[in-house]
Amino acid sequence: MMTVTVLGLESSCDDTAAAVVRGTSGKARILSSVVHGQDALHAGYGGVVPEIAARAHAEKLDLCVMRALAEAGVTLGDLDAVAVTAGPGLIGGVLAGVMCAKGICAATGLPLIGVNHLAGHALTPRLTDEVAWPYLVLLVSGGHCQFLIARGHDDFTRLGGTIDDAPGEAFDKVARLLGLPQPGGPAVESEARKGDPARFAFPRPLLDRPGCDLSFSGLKTALLRQRDLIVREKGGITRQDRADLCAGFQQAVADVLAEKSRRALAHYTALAPAAPIMAVAGGVAANGVIRAALKEACAGAGVEFLAPPLALCTDNAAMIAYAGIERHLAGAHDDMTLSARPRWPL
Ligand code: KG4
Ligand code: ZN
Repeated sequence: MMTVTVLGLESSCDDTAAAVVRGTSGKARILSSVVHGQDALHAGYGGVVPEIAARAHAEKLDLCVMRALAEAGVTLGDLDAVAVTAGPGLIGGVLAGVMCAKGICAATGLPLIGVNHLAGHALTPRLTDEVAWPYLVLLVSGGHCQFLIARGHDDFTRLGGTIDDAPGEAFDKVARLLGLPQPGGPAVESEARKGDPARFAFPRPLLDRPGCDLSFSGLKTALLRQRDLIVREKGGITRQDRADLCAGFQQAVADVLAEKSRRALAHYTALAPAAPIMAVAGGVAANGVIRAALKEACAGAGVEFLAPPLALCTDNAAMIAYAGIERHLAGAHDDMTLSARPRWPL
């Protein structure tokens, strides 16, 4: 099969990223992957500020592109196409990326490829490992949570997803409620290590309902209620209270994700895939307790569990460049009418 070299751009949330990936469908190599985070810019606001994010993307995209090309040891003339996240995401940032990609394509004549950010995450297992269709993906990040069966680069079946918060968002909100730093996931996980997950009762939302849909906002509310109860009784919360709250919350998230994974795995294995695989993507996949719970669910279903390296689980442009390779080889190009889409379900 033909080998191509694609430049990818990503700017849909709070990471400005550019990467060069070379290869073919199902077998590719990352030549460079530059990610410029914006954590420091948003630190004082308790979350990502869209306007600040968009400005920072517009400022940094060209520099990220230059660095990605230099680190890959290629020039624009070595490229076969430019792929860019065209949504879903914060519209100002997505627009900045799409305009940057259009500029490069207008100047060079290279084909332009708009990539769905979620497809980028969902295709990552084929970038890191030789994974055949169909495989199951669980996307768990700060903005997304869904189970997908990937049947082709543009063919995804959604089995279910969150009906409210994404799990990462819930971790971030819990951290805020307990005075822990952002991003909340790593902070809550580290507190939870010192805590007793059984001390406080947390619900296991939606387990009483069939299907693969999930809900996390109730867990955050449950934690808030427990916290206020302790404050009313004792006048404040101790370090141990905080650790126990974190541990209880985290265990509830892990239990729910594992049980819903068992259901998704049952749908998936019914397709009788030759080499069954469930992959995770998204920043929450970094959580050790959640990872172990998912691994156990996979083992129970006789399905291999695949967790790509963390740098490729979180937002990056290598996954966008790789999705671009798949689309380029399938002849799925865009033109200058490509628009940025805040919402774009797979
Ligand atoms: O995929 P990602 O980098 O960005 C998007 O949301 O697209 O994921 C970031 C999210 C944040 O909400 C962060 O709190 C969460 O992933 N996260 C974690 C952990 N590390 C990062 N959540 C739980 N446990 C962790 N160790
Ligand atoms: Zn993402």
